[in-house]
Amino acid sequence: MAKSVAKRIGVLTGGGDAPGLNAVIRAVVKTAIREYQMTVVGFENGFGGLIKNQARELTEIDVVGILPRGGTILGTTNRDNPFHYPVVKGNEKTFADVSDRVFENISIHGIDALIVIGGDGSLAIGKELQDKGLKVIGVPKTIDNDLSATDQTFGFDTALTTASEAIDKLHTTAESHHRVMVLEVMGRYAGWIALASGLAGGADVIIIPEIPYNMDIIVNKINARTRGNKKFSIIVVAEGAKPVGGDMVVNKHVEDSFDPIRLGGIGNVIAQAVETATGKESRVTVLGHLQRGGSPTAYDRILATRYGTAAVNLVGEGKFGNMVCLKGQLIEHVPLEQAIGELHKVPVDGELVRVARQLGICLGD
Ligand code: F6P
Repeated sequence: MAKSVAKRIGVLTGGGDAPGLNAVIRAVVKTAIREYQMTVVGFENGFGGLIKNQARELTEIDVVGILPRGGTILGTTNRDNPFHYPVVKGNEKTFADVSDRVFENISIHGIDALIVIGGDGSLAIGKELQDKGLKVIGVPKTIDNDLSATDQTFGFDTALTTASEAIDKLHTTAESHHRVMVLEVMGRYAGWIALASGLAGGADVIIIPEIPYNMDIIVNKINARTRGNKKFSIIVVAEGAKPVGGDMVVNKHVEDSFDPIRLGGIGNVIAQAVETATGKESRVTVLGHLQRGGSPTAYDRILATRYGTAAVNLVGEGKFGNMVCLKGQLIEHVPLEQAIGELHKVPVDGELVRVARQLGICLGD
């Protein structure tokens, strides 16, 4: 049993769900209770629960059986920023700073420190709360793997596995019908899922946000394959991909969200252009939220568990204002401000991109 400076800790999950959230919650609860005799209070639905005082104590019984389950037992949202909270005055909707409510609820529950499990939006709010006097520890989550200061977020490996399996299945129809099959995967500003799943699944063309594409080059690649008696092609495209000099395809705007832009549709744009230019029948699959669902892979379960335990250890040691992270094979921690700095994008001259090019995969440039 270790001594801790904190006796009661809060935990919340914020932003889009990702496989492994429950594994982090379980590790937090078990480590806090067993190692430090802390009490754990779970706030529901992200920062919404902190604002509206929706909370419940989490005991070891509450986390039984949740390790392999996707989603989050606490609920989550990518809205409800306490520093930019929608309030309706008469017929008008404005935004107000309601962060004082957070501090009232923190005090009602006697919380000494808060563990925020989230992506860049949630961790930025965590940092603002830390600056205002709350003791915060961050845990890096997102299937997009686009957070700085960690080599990998949990959730990415499961999303990558789902996308790779989808490519394997698309090969069947591609080969049988001699078609071009386009798979649109998530990845708003970073193409990790597209690049890694494209490599794992043997894609012929991979289009990522970091490398603006030229349609002629993609068409040339498909035509060259046809000339080489390869009668089908697989294209993987990240939702945030854009042509040289062009923009991302925005599907809609979600007001109040940490990042209001919702992408979607680039797969159709690519498939139509390919079909028109090559005459080859083309089809699109948008993998969407399937990538966020389901049971986490063994890798994500272990990473999430290590992150949860490490986060509680940081609380126990009083090292607040930090995010746990993966550096090589080791779990370490970095100041929150580093975690919410620049997004972790695919290096365009990095090894993975080089490998793809050396295999003859077309990256659209
Ligand atoms: O950031 C994770 C992510 O999955 C993005 O890749 C995607 O654009 C977004 O969330 C979708 O969010 P929502 O759940 O609001 O559709």
